[in-house]
Amino acid sequence: MSTIAVLRIARGGPGDAGRFETFEVPYVPGQSILDGLMWIREHVDPSLAFRFACINANVCKECVMRIDGKNGYACTERLKPGETALEPLANKRRIRDLACDTVPPKERLIAG
Ligand code: FES
Repeated sequence: MSTIAVLRIARGGPGDAGRFETFEVPYVPGQSILDGLMWIREHVDPSLAFRFACINANVCKECVMRIDGKNGYACTERLKPGETALEPLANKRRIRDLACDTVPPKERLIAG
């Protein structure tokens, strides 16, 4: 018997709020939320936007997002059976879906 993990994901661009899409992904114990997001992008919706670089437990910090209302790293949080809500960071400028502009303001070359 296969088990399903349900990812309820906030979609949209800057200024969009309140639109969620729900995706069912195969649940495999030990897999991360990031594994689930990559599965969605490969098998269901290649337009889903999220950030990651190291895929390896809290090195690059690109994958930070709100997971069930708390900030966390998608590569270290585990998939679970049942529903998990994923949203972009609340205090950063949203680029699209779960991807935010995480560059500190003083490091930007262009004011924005
Ligand atoms: S992908 Fe690098 S910390 Fe999560």
